[in-house]
Amino acid sequence: MSSKHESNEFDVVIIGAGPAGYVAAIRCAQLGLSTACIDKWQDDNQTPRLGGTCLNVGCIPSKALLESSELYAQSEHSLSQHGINASKISLDLGQMMRRKNNVVNTLTAGIETLFKSNKVTWFQGEARITNNHDLLNKVVRVTLHNNKNLKLKASNIIIATGSSPVNLPVAPIDNNLIVDSSGALSFSEVPEKLGIIGAGVIGLELGSVWSRLGSEVTIFEAQDNFLSIADQLIAREGLKLLRNQGLNIQLNTRLINAQIKDHKVQVNYQTSEGDQSTTFTKLIVAVGRSPNSSDLFENETELEFDEGRFIHVNHHCETSLPGIYAIGDIVRGPMLAHKGSEEGLMVAELIAGNFREVNYQLIPSVIYTHPELAWVGKTEQELKTSGTEYRIGTFPFIASGRAQAVNETSGMVKVISDKQTDRILGVHILGAQASELIAQAVIAMELGSSAEDIALTMFAHPTFSEAFHEAALAVSGNALHIAQKRR
Ligand code: FAD
Ligand code: NAI
Repeated sequence: MSSKHESNEFDVVIIGAGPAGYVAAIRCAQLGLSTACIDKWQDDNQTPRLGGTCLNVGCIPSKALLESSELYAQSEHSLSQHGINASKISLDLGQMMRRKNNVVNTLTAGIETLFKSNKVTWFQGEARITNNHDLLNKVVRVTLHNNKNLKLKASNIIIATGSSPVNLPVAPIDNNLIVDSSGALSFSEVPEKLGIIGAGVIGLELGSVWSRLGSEVTIFEAQDNFLSIADQLIAREGLKLLRNQGLNIQLNTRLINAQIKDHKVQVNYQTSEGDQSTTFTKLIVAVGRSPNSSDLFENETELEFDEGRFIHVNHHCETSLPGIYAIGDIVRGPMLAHKGSEEGLMVAELIAGNFREVNYQLIPSVIYTHPELAWVGKTEQELKTSGTEYRIGTFPFIASGRAQAVNETSGMVKVISDKQTDRILGVHILGAQASELIAQAVIAMELGSSAEDIALTMFAHPTFSEAFHEAALAVSGNALHIAQKRR
């Protein structure tokens, strides 16, 4: 291993150190493969950082701000219901941002430590794959941040270069008044009137953050269905709750253009009633992300691509060229950190000669609004379309003792099972702890559980999890804490 390593030859070279790439790197190294990971990320002070989008400008900073802003909103609006009178609550946005940055720094530094302890070699710079490959070696050229160039030889390459926000030419990002999700995680003041294009995951999470901190938030969504990927019962309930919190979510509304006028953003948009115009202090564009695949190859590449410049892979994340794998946001499937990490683990095992698969049917999704939305498996609308016969059990949190005690009674759990076999096909949750509760459903479904299996399982009382138990009981008409017709 060491002689290969010293001559810049590795068993595996991984391009990208986001949750797909860094997890693959650690696992490859654990399995005894000499491993290098190249990443070009630098923070605002030009310090190289591991962790990719997720740790630096994605999952982690957004969840840090969601937590801080929720605490602020609760202190302002909900504590009095518990008999706590807190006066002089005020916002120190600078401290909130410093805390968020500290969380990011702690976690990115943690990966650096893990790389060191696992002997993953980290190259800080931009990688390009050359065409100089044969069956034994592929060549990756690296332009280091100090402008030196390196040539690495690899038996295997894992591409994990992630994705970037989609830019709309009609609303060009200026990183001041019109920003993407990264900019929206670092405002230095709470915008008085905040516009967001896109009521997807980012629009809802970041819209929630700034609304809780005092912005008047309007979200324009082109589709007339809210969260079309989610189960529509849960989505409809979620929409009502989010609107009640003050998020002005306007569906079926398409952006025409946005321009800066007098230090404000003028937005022209189209609704069923015709063209309209309004002005915002800041505008966030959150209309999806696209794969980072364009600057990755030194010459014309022979790799196959899917529509939208995603690198084409099979279910083992093998590309069309032997020894080259691609994982995470750069390939098909939901753009989620845990999906990329699982693919990283799978590919590492395959390279080491072991077997592992990813169960693409059971990727949990979570939207960290308040309450949270979380789901796994099929939605009711998908089952209808495929003609699958099913049964449904729902249980509202308002009937849960724990939810009442905690004052978190919004939402419900919905369990869908196969009509013939009772095997659970999907679980959909809207509720305060949905992100944690959904793991139970994933485990149950991985083990092929029926709704009856869950119904026959003992759950601690009083817990939010009992709502999952009751929803499973409700599938056969046997829920205890709601009135239900017996089946
Ligand atoms: P990335 O994390 O994008 O990492 C790719 C890395 O490759 C980067 O570090 C980049 O610098 C590097 N790179 C690219 N090209 C090169 C090159 N040529 N040479 C060297 N390095 C290169 N997902 C969740 O599951 N849960 C969440 O709560 C969540 N919240 C999110 C919130 C926001 C605001 C955003 C924007 C995203 C969020 N996501 C969340 C999505 C999640 O961040 C991505 O799915 C995940 O980061 C993808 O991982 P990845 O490793 O494929 O790519
Ligand atoms: P998204 O795909 O979730 O939502 C984009 C929304 O913008 C869609 O609803 C789309 O209909 C709408 N849209 C597109 N063009 C529009 C236009 N011109 N006018 C109005 N609306 C328009 O993408 P988003 O929110 O940018 O997030 C990107 C990815 O990041 C997601 O796919 C998600 O997987 C990931 N992410 C995950 C999180 C989580 O797991 N909690 C949190 C944040 C992001």
